[in-house]
Amino acid sequence: MFVSWSHFSCSLKKALSSSFLPALVIFVCPAASHATDSSTVYQVNENFRQNANVQDLSLFEEAKKDREFFWSKQAHNLDWFQPWDTVLEWDPPYAKWFLGGKLNASYNCLDRHLNESASKIALLWEGERGEERSISYDQLFNEVCKFSNVLKNLGVKKGDKVAIYLPMIPEAVVAMLSCSRIGAVHTVVFAGFSSDSLKDRIIDAGAKFLITADGSFRKGKIVSLKEMADLALASPTPVEKVVVVKHTEVPVPMNEERDFWYDTLMADAKEECPPESMDAEDELFILYTSGTTGKPKGIVHSTGGYLLGATMSLRWVFDIKPADIYWCTADVGWITGHSYVVYGPLSNGATVLLYEGAPDHPERDRFWRLIEKYGVTILYTAPTAIRTFMKWGEQWVKDHDLSSLRLLGSVGEPINPEAWEWYYTHIGRKNCPVVDTWWQTETGSIMIAPIPALHPLKPGSATKPLPGVDVAIVDEKGDSQTSGFLAITTPWPSMLRGVHNDPVRYQSTYWKKWDKGYYFTGDGASIDNDGYVWLSGRIDDVINVSGHRLGTMELESALVDHKAVAEAAVIAISHEIKGQAIVAFVSVKEDVFNHPGLEDELKQHVVKKIGAIARPERIIFICELPKTRSGKIMRRLLRDVAEGRVIGDTTTLSDPSVIEEIKLKYQED
Ligand code: WT7
Repeated sequence: MFVSWSHFSCSLKKALSSSFLPALVIFVCPAASHATDSSTVYQVNENFRQNANVQDLSLFEEAKKDREFFWSKQAHNLDWFQPWDTVLEWDPPYAKWFLGGKLNASYNCLDRHLNESASKIALLWEGERGEERSISYDQLFNEVCKFSNVLKNLGVKKGDKVAIYLPMIPEAVVAMLSCSRIGAVHTVVFAGFSSDSLKDRIIDAGAKFLITADGSFRKGKIVSLKEMADLALASPTPVEKVVVVKHTEVPVPMNEERDFWYDTLMADAKEECPPESMDAEDELFILYTSGTTGKPKGIVHSTGGYLLGATMSLRWVFDIKPADIYWCTADVGWITGHSYVVYGPLSNGATVLLYEGAPDHPERDRFWRLIEKYGVTILYTAPTAIRTFMKWGEQWVKDHDLSSLRLLGSVGEPINPEAWEWYYTHIGRKNCPVVDTWWQTETGSIMIAPIPALHPLKPGSATKPLPGVDVAIVDEKGDSQTSGFLAITTPWPSMLRGVHNDPVRYQSTYWKKWDKGYYFTGDGASIDNDGYVWLSGRIDDVINVSGHRLGTMELESALVDHKAVAEAAVIAISHEIKGQAIVAFVSVKEDVFNHPGLEDELKQHVVKKIGAIARPERIIFICELPKTRSGKIMRRLLRDVAEGRVIGDTTTLSDPSVIEEIKLKYQED
């Protein structure tokens, strides 16, 4: 092995470093304070108000009076095969809602609309190259029934786990609803995730079946999903059978015993498939999300409570109506796609637009073309997308007729007031309320957001909790404060039911911070004099890149998995477009040649281990990470360096001189 110059300098530095250097200035930075209630306030127009689904405070009043009764009344908005006997059984931290009740999610999304809306369009799909499909409720129902039979014929049984790794095509919706129809539990894996991530999720979930496609289109290129899936299945996994949707038509290898074409199976499938009668508490799906350890958590959601949350929040916050053309730009691989592309809108009988490709293909006005072409009335997207559009400039927007729009939504991270104003002015043309919706994979549906006709809007605030949702801003002890941790203080129907196969993690991550039965969100927040909540971001080791959650530990594990890396520490820095970006501090092994291409190699390694969203923005090679004497990496100091702040307390560092080196390195790159 070669010894690099940089390594030599590391050894030299170590030899010269003196542990008796004076500690750096001790200074604790004050926490950034939130915007105040003095910011501009926006009201919806009279026309919106008069036609709004929710026009008065009665929902809030009912919920306040008797939360359980309120939710049981709301639950009548779903179709049940059998009513529940008990609304809520709360044995902290385990909640069971609508015990004894029986229903089926796909029945609620399809069958119940067939009397009145059979020919109504359920899905409008457009591919990146401009291909179009429009699928009515009865067509979607037929497709789902047939695919449910396909799954049954392959051996899928109630309770089995089915992994779905598909692009944004109607078959993704069909696959999800078919699982719920027969009582199988789906676990959708975002198609941008790498084969390693897919494999980990398949193994953790114990999925015996995988539904994928030959490939997908992105920015004019073809991504070979089947190749990724094959790689994921190259070493042992529980997967026995794979269904492959033909989409790009690029030939892919098929394993004769394991792989089946979707089309071939559908050609022989029977059309009738009665929905399985599911208990309200039966698992509907597992969705993986990053946390503070190296391993993503399989968040488990129930059938009844989850569907209720998704269904009602769409009526209240998005004001969904039968005539709407609704577009949520999230991928089905995220919770937003589950709740607000599939279950929420279809349970409401809405017309949903799906778009497969990138926002800048073939040009930067693709979204506005789609809105104009399909007459989209409700748009739900993420702050990172809005900031990207802002950067591209108004010229891409201004010549498009966006007058069909009547409501705009935002989700994924705090929306900065500047982006809010731009969205409101240039997309909504000052005519559409912007609803900033706070929630999480774990909450299943929106928790804090405006009811547009009731709450005046303040750019940057998600406003107030929805009816039936109780939150508090508390300190370490769990006492109410105006600024602190955001907690949810009472159980809600769409709450997670657990972490798949890991009850200990479920309890320790979410319920152990206080002993009051409060749910710990991991977010910091403050509350203003009007009772408006202002989210300030994660307070744990979780990074939010472009609205996607990544754990610092998960990223660090991916880096140290590379043969050259000795240690890695990952932090987030603010990023103009992405909100946050990943910066990794890495020390290489003593016998490693730190060649110029190593930075790119490491970035590529992270992409391979996790997926393109996890690519670090910068990698900074340093001799040693700042650690306490007990060996704990002090990420706080790295954050101070990165944000150009005065370095905080370094007295606990085992070698305070490392900070100087890190500062120099950070500035020089
Ligand atoms: C985390 C949840 C829920 C769908 C998308 C992300 C942040 C989400 C907002 C918002 C401020 C927000 C929080 C939260 N977040 N929406 N409107 N304002 N922060 O789901 O991957 O489970 O991430 O995203 O930090 O905890 P997720």
